[in-house]
Amino acid sequence: MTGSDTTQLPSITTDVLIIGSGVAGLTAAVEVSREAQVLIVSKDRLGENNTMYAQGGIAVVLSHDDSFEDHIRDTLEAGQGLCEPTVVEHVVREGPGGIKALMGLGACFDRNNGQLALTVEGGHSHPRIIHGKGDSTGMVVEETLLNFIEECSNISTLEHYFAIDLLTVDGQCCGAIVWHRHKGKTVVWAKETVLATGGCGQVYRETTNSDIATGDGIAMAYRAGATLRDLEFVQFHPTTLYIAGAARSLVTETLRGEGAILINKEGKRFMPSYHPMAELAPRDVVSRSIVREMRSTGYTHVYLDVRHIPKERLKVRFPRIWSTCASFHIDISKEAIPVRPSAHYMIGGVEVDEKGRTDIEHLYACGEISSTGLHGANRLGSNSLLECIVYGHKAGSEIADILRRNKHKTRTYPLRVKVKARRHRGLNLGDIRYALKSLMWRDVGLERDEQHLRDAVGEIGHWSEYIMDKEFNSPYGWELQNMLFLSRLIADSARERKETRGVHYRSDFPNRNDKDWKRHLFIRNETA
Ligand code: FUM
Repeated sequence: MTGSDTTQLPSITTDVLIIGSGVAGLTAAVEVSREAQVLIVSKDRLGENNTMYAQGGIAVVLSHDDSFEDHIRDTLEAGQGLCEPTVVEHVVREGPGGIKALMGLGACFDRNNGQLALTVEGGHSHPRIIHGKGDSTGMVVEETLLNFIEECSNISTLEHYFAIDLLTVDGQCCGAIVWHRHKGKTVVWAKETVLATGGCGQVYRETTNSDIATGDGIAMAYRAGATLRDLEFVQFHPTTLYIAGAARSLVTETLRGEGAILINKEGKRFMPSYHPMAELAPRDVVSRSIVREMRSTGYTHVYLDVRHIPKERLKVRFPRIWSTCASFHIDISKEAIPVRPSAHYMIGGVEVDEKGRTDIEHLYACGEISSTGLHGANRLGSNSLLECIVYGHKAGSEIADILRRNKHKTRTYPLRVKVKARRHRGLNLGDIRYALKSLMWRDVGLERDEQHLRDAVGEIGHWSEYIMDKEFNSPYGWELQNMLFLSRLIADSARERKETRGVHYRSDFPNRNDKDWKRHLFIRNETA
């Protein structure tokens, strides 16, 4: 995206570079640190990421009434034919060990009568979601890992460093170029690099995601030549707090697991007329039902009603939602919560194998950025933190093993990258960014069809013509380039998949078509 000459830039060498500081990256760091030096680079402060906003919990088989087989079956069913069964099996079976390891580091999950408290979410046949501080599970896990990292002499961190691009030599990754507001560009040379940058919810106007989720890691991986997979599968969360002008914070599905119901503007419960599982139907069904209800009532949102749940229970079990709503003068024990769907999770991403390896040597990916094969075409709630923990561990321990066997020094190279770029004049980046997010929401959102997808591809192509050929010198421009690029890939993939499957709903192809489409869509940069 931008020119650089590594012989002219300050540089750092490390054994392992981890880009991103959510649960997947931090778990990998913990594992690697047993063997080698790790540098974690975070675009914002450590802890500003999607993990921190994860509310509901972690799906894991811990109760005697539950079984690995049931969790595997639920996950495969939700994934609608596109999960990799061996991946599902491994992740589900490795879940309890991952949770035990986290608890060993000090993570405290909520308990009932001394036992870990378990709740339910849509598509799970048993209560198997553990949670922390009520509805702040991600924060509990993140803070536990950050505490470890702070104390670990083998781990160092760089906060507020934007990763611009990966460095590759002969198709092998050897680090990345990062940028800091005051220090400019720095080269980080590493023997192994892990991408754990999260998803790209910020390409949509309505999203539960952190501001950092602009898809930088996926775009970088593509530019470096890694294979991407299934980018059409974007999961929309049914219930996001909807107050005009306020940030779209998540209203956890576990509220519905504990009895919350959805009502429309007239106060009528509507989910039973859309699906036999009512409020606990799969997320895509609930999201589309809400949109239809909004359309039929001509209203901007629906409501999540928890007024029948005792006030004390609400305060203790859902303290975050209680206080977020209270800050907008909504007492949820007396008033229903205004909600509507928003973009929540990128199911597709950088293709990785069972050890978290991408198809570029020395480059790994874990967490939301990756496509492991666990989720297929639809992700079960709370399976993602589980995946982050299991794959963070897999990638980290694979790297630790390699470095144990191979003690060579981190190599550096003279690399000169020139870009043919023009200076930008008269561009209002904020305006394009907002227009792009609106376009994606409108035309590449919950309901898709050929006409809207074609329009979106055209519009993104038009904006790309005058954004992609410019050289920017700060993250606002680079992020926009990454967002445009990701949006184009999502729209192209959505256009290509001419069927409805999981979270990908095509109103012009409303049925699942296994004959033609029970397969993944791969994307590769042949010029890398
Ligand atoms: O509703 C939630 O708490 C979200 C959970 C998830 O996306 O895994």
